[in-house]
Amino acid sequence: MAGSGAQRRRSGQVLFLFVLPLFHPALCEPIRYSIPEELAKGSVVGNLAKDLGLSVLDVSARKLRVSAEKLHFSVDAESGDLLVKDRIDREQICKEKRSCELQLEAVVENPLNIFHIIVTIEDINDHAPHFPKDEINLEISESVSPGMGTILECAEDPDISMNSLSKYQLIPNEYFSLVVKDNPDGGKYPELVLQKTLDRETQSAHHLVLTALDGGDPPRSGTAQIRIVVVDANDNPPVFSQDVYRVSVREGVPPGTSVLRVRATDQDEGINAEIIYSFLGVADKAQHVFSLDSTTGNIKTHRSLDFEEVERFTMNVEAKDRGSLSTRCKVIIEVLDENDNSPEIIITSLSDQILEDSPLGMVVALFKTRDQDSGENGEVRCSLSRDAPFKIHSSSNNYYKLVTDGDLDREQTPEYNITITASDRGKPPLSSSTTITLHITDINDNAPVFRQSAYLVHVPENNQPGTSIAQVCASDPDLGSNGSVSYAIVASDLEPRVLSSYVSVSAQSGVVFAQRAFDHEQLRAFELTLQARDQGSPALSANVSLRVLVGDRNDNAPRVLYPALGPDGSALFDTVPRAAEPGYLVTKVVAVDADSGHNAWLSYHVLQASEPGLFSLGLRTGEVRTVRALGDRDAARQRLLVTVRDGGQPPLSATATLLLVFADSLQEALPDLTHGPTPSDPQAELQFYLVVALALISVLFLLAVILAIALRLQHSSSPTAWGCFQPGLCSKSGPKVPPNYSEGTLPYSYNLCVPGDQTNPEFNFLTSVDHCSAMQDILNNDTSSVLLASILTSSVEGDKTSKLVST
Ligand SMILES: *[C@@H]1O[C@H](CO)[C@@H](O)[C@H](O)[C@H]1NC(C)=O
Ligand SMILES: *[C@@H]1O[C@H](CO)[C@@H](O)[C@H](O)[C@H]1NC(C)=O
Ligand SMILES: *[C@@H]1O[C@H](CO)[C@@H](O)[C@H](O)[C@H]1NC(C)=O
Repeated sequence: MAGSGAQRRRSGQVLFLFVLPLFHPALCEPIRYSIPEELAKGSVVGNLAKDLGLSVLDVSARKLRVSAEKLHFSVDAESGDLLVKDRIDREQICKEKRSCELQLEAVVENPLNIFHIIVTIEDINDHAPHFPKDEINLEISESVSPGMGTILECAEDPDISMNSLSKYQLIPNEYFSLVVKDNPDGGKYPELVLQKTLDRETQSAHHLVLTALDGGDPPRSGTAQIRIVVVDANDNPPVFSQDVYRVSVREGVPPGTSVLRVRATDQDEGINAEIIYSFLGVADKAQHVFSLDSTTGNIKTHRSLDFEEVERFTMNVEAKDRGSLSTRCKVIIEVLDENDNSPEIIITSLSDQILEDSPLGMVVALFKTRDQDSGENGEVRCSLSRDAPFKIHSSSNNYYKLVTDGDLDREQTPEYNITITASDRGKPPLSSSTTITLHITDINDNAPVFRQSAYLVHVPENNQPGTSIAQVCASDPDLGSNGSVSYAIVASDLEPRVLSSYVSVSAQSGVVFAQRAFDHEQLRAFELTLQARDQGSPALSANVSLRVLVGDRNDNAPRVLYPALGPDGSALFDTVPRAAEPGYLVTKVVAVDADSGHNAWLSYHVLQASEPGLFSLGLRTGEVRTVRALGDRDAARQRLLVTVRDGGQPPLSATATLLLVFADSLQEALPDLTHGPTPSDPQAELQFYLVVALALISVLFLLAVILAIALRLQHSSSPTAWGCFQPGLCSKSGPKVPPNYSEGTLPYSYNLCVPGDQTNPEFNFLTSVDHCSAMQDILNNDTSSVLLASILTSSVEGDKTSKLVST
């Protein structure tokens, strides 16, 4: 194209050049050429030789050449064409000049001639418009109102005229438009005009592309990126995520627990979005309980919550950005009740003592319960420790009565620790308890009780007066004087007059003392009724019997009752029939021992016999029997010395002398007696009369008996019976038995049986007497009176015959 344009111009030049030489030397008109810029090297600008009127030969011969300050051209040495030697950039050479001409001289030698040549460089559109920066960064506040313009930098295009910058274009955009304005000094500049309010929150940046176009054909363009950052304005207030925050918190949470976080957002950015939270309202007690983190909006408990104090907190929280736009929200914190309060027991009235005979239902204490929790956590129930005789009566409004529910016994339980437990119905339940100590006061409800139901003591006779013989003991579980026991003797089987001379009891200790030496033979046993009595009012007492058995000691020697000495001290004798068979019972030694048992178990021994072997003596019976028949050589009078021993340790003994006379009758025996070895008694005569009198009485008595038997036989045919005479039988008027025989063993020697039939007069016995006074006298050791009494009684009552012979 450039070539074809140059061709056309060249034909004009050629025409012009034809005429040029003609005027050449005179005119000195420069030779003009016109070429577009940026021709390739070697391109022909024009045929310089021809234009100078030189022949081809002259070109080399005359050494045609061009010269300039800066040589862009050369001359072809053969054809004389002016050739482009170097790159020709119009913009470089001529900058912004509208016409761009290069001046050079053509030089020929022989003769030397100089021609002026002007080469006009024509512009081609070889440059596109170009922005100084590829990227244009703008910051526009969102608060800017539409219509505001921002001048943009211009693009540059070094080309000129048509090829230079002709217009700007902006990619269509709702927010911005482009206005191209003319500079007062020429040129145009683009201005960006805001069409619509920006909103950073919607779109924080805008990207635009600005295009600059030149007027070339075809036009060339350059672009620049416009980056618009929307600068934030504090046009948005903070917004809470909720209008009302509602949260429930257990009351037990520890201080510092995070409860809730309020969150406000601000669509602005940067400092405009920095939110500060604060409580609204100053005197809000919630602020003492909660703390609010001003930057995070975190609400924490400041101290522990107590449902019982405040059930719900309502607070206003404000969120404020730095630009002082603010909003508020409401925070409701509900405190949930927890079972954190134990029930309380409040004793309103208490009697710490109660009588042990208090009736059922006696009020011991009044109390009430309290639990600060609500609902089930505050429902209280009371219970008691088991196995105490009390119960709880609930009256209205958590008031309770503690009453007795059973018999109280101070002796069993002197005090009760009553534990009242109150527990609520929370999960888990809480409970508390209170212990009441209740003392049971004593009443005198227990009589003394003796350790034993009866006491029995054995006291050997002949004890020391004043010794203690027994101790009774009674206990009384009552308290103090109600339980202090004193002893006394309240009754006895001794005569009241003599009681105090026998025994006494210590009131404090219950020790029973003997006041005298006891005699088993006089008093074998006695019984006391002792009373234990407490000091209560009224006093209670108990009786116990104490039986004292006086033990025997061998303090009595046997006493021979038969044979006894006569009243005058002479020995009595027994007669033995001469014809007595062997084994004939001659007589019986009778002895008694006032002691009892072994001490009274008598044995009989022959100490001395005038004719040993003639008589035998029963060891236990004391019976004297013949061993053999009497021989002629045997003396008519025999003498046996007998000793009687008791079984005591040591034994005591007594001796007796038996005088036995072999005779067929008393009369026969008497002479013997008078001629006996002891007739020289001065009282013999008196005795003789006495015996005669006795014999007479006996005969009379026999007659009387025979008469009585005959009469009796006449009335009834009852057989004659053997009477057994026992000491008991003699008593017709009460217990006249000597008291020392009522206990222990009766000496068997007393238990004698004699035939009721007195037909055999040879049975010479002093058997049992039948009058107690007689017996008493015997025992009382008055020998002479025994004999007399026996005689008298037998004559009066006539039960049996006794033949008493005095020697
Ligand atoms: C009652 O409690 C008191 C004091 O705690 C104690 O000394 C006493 O032994 C208790 N009594 C009973 C019967 O448990
Ligand atoms: C003894 O019992 C009586 C009632 O019988 C009572 O009044 C008194 O207080 C009791 N004495 C003591 C020391 O407990
Ligand atoms: C104890 O004995 C005395 C005298 O015999 C009598 O008065 C009293 O009632 C008795 N007491 C008891 C508890 O038996």
